[in-house]
Amino acid sequence: MSDNVSLNQLLGELDLLEAEAAKQISATNDIDSLEQLRVGFLGKKGRLSGVLGSMGKLSSQERPLVGQRANVLKTELQGLLSGQLEHLKSAALAGLLARETIDVTAPASGVPVGHRHPLITTTEDIVDLFFGLGYQLAEGPEVENDHYNFTALNIPEDHPARDMQDTFYLDGNLLLRTHTSPVQIRYLEENKPPVRIVAPGRVYRRDAVDATHSPVFHQVEVLAIDKGLNFSHLRGTVMAFLKAFFGDLPIRFRASYFPFTEPSVEVDVQWRGKWLEVMGCGMVDPAVLEGLGLDPECWSGFAAGLGIERFCMVRHGIDDIRRLYTSDLRFLEQF
Ligand code: DAH
Repeated sequence: MSDNVSLNQLLGELDLLEAEAAKQISATNDIDSLEQLRVGFLGKKGRLSGVLGSMGKLSSQERPLVGQRANVLKTELQGLLSGQLEHLKSAALAGLLARETIDVTAPASGVPVGHRHPLITTTEDIVDLFFGLGYQLAEGPEVENDHYNFTALNIPEDHPARDMQDTFYLDGNLLLRTHTSPVQIRYLEENKPPVRIVAPGRVYRRDAVDATHSPVFHQVEVLAIDKGLNFSHLRGTVMAFLKAFFGDLPIRFRASYFPFTEPSVEVDVQWRGKWLEVMGCGMVDPAVLEGLGLDPECWSGFAAGLGIERFCMVRHGIDDIRRLYTSDLRFLEQF
């Protein structure tokens, strides 16, 4: 600015500034450029400051005239800027709303549907088959004690199943149940025979993990106690159940040993050209009944236990038990 500024010159500049600012502000259509205009006109190094800076060359009577005019102009421009800001904001919102309109007539883009885990459906199918034979659901705790998991089932002190190698022992007398058979004892303590129960649940063993072993797996326990039950009832029940589950796979009974049944058998089904053991069962050992205060001369029955994973793997042709636990959706979505 030249040295000899006059009052009129400065007032003229303010008029010009007002006209330009008003025009540019109303022409701005984005918030960033509006901010640039604010800095350009009203900022510390902006044009209004520029005019005020050259006021020093005016006389002391003239200076207030420019100052007042500048203040009025500043308020006016602030008003224009915030008005335009509001305008741009609501225009942006209106645009957003218009763009986000949902076309309710457009075809839906497939909603992902959850799947029931194959272990759950297998469990339910097994339990359902026994419901159909008149059995009732029973359950027991996963944290057991030595009495229910072993002693009451006629499993002697030196039985290898009690070994630290096989059982997860907890503090004191507690352990993680190694099978669902303790449910037999718990149920018979609470319920007088005749009883027919099916008891699914999780069990634990200190197994190393491989394609067919897992330290946590699932079993179903079956127990029937009544007057006059004999091995034919056991065989008929097991055959009916296995046929219903596996269809017409060949089935064979093989003599075996369990401490809590006498006689005991293991049952195999022929699968992929080989005999595959699928369950253990037998007539409830009189020692178990006596331990519960039941007279073996009066009551008899049978019990069976099976591993759910194996049933699930045979049914679906799954070759590695770990697939059932790794929650890989690419695998699970097949079921
Ligand atoms: N509890 C046995 C196990 O885990 C399985 C079993 C075998 C259960 C024979 C029974 C039975 O009820 O009668 O290896």
